[in-house]
Amino acid sequence: MNANESLVAKALDARENAFAPFSNFKVGAALELDDGKIYTGCNVENATYGLTVCAERVALWKAISEGARKFLRIAVASGSEHPATPCGACRQLLWEFCGDIEVILANPRGFRETHRLADLFPHPFDRSFL
Ligand code: THU
Repeated sequence: MNANESLVAKALDARENAFAPFSNFKVGAALELDDGKIYTGCNVENATYGLTVCAERVALWKAISEGARKFLRIAVASGSEHPATPCGACRQLLWEFCGDIEVILANPRGFRETHRLADLFPHPFDRSFL
């Protein structure tokens, strides 16, 4: 299995844990550090809807809270025909914490597509403006 496929496999596994009783849209993410360590996450929904946390942010907060600071790639797995791209809030946070990482989109039926975060999130606001 190549490196992208093993990261995607972890995102697909994490997707199995998605808590998505309101949307039924399950998402998994796998975030790889520069030392090869991987943190995973799934979306966790809430009855108030607005407190829902996306899979990408769960993976990111797990990593940051354990001291991780240097990131290479994130795989995001969902069930749609063209797999979901990260929402705007996640793009902002991924940009601030990870910079221009690779974003690999995947679904369980073999769709794979790789982007740079800078292409998905051009002209970002970040600390360089402060
Ligand atoms: N969701 C994610 O977890 N990541 C994405 O990239 C897109 C959307 C979740 C949030 C919510 O639980 C469900 O998908 C539907 O929006």
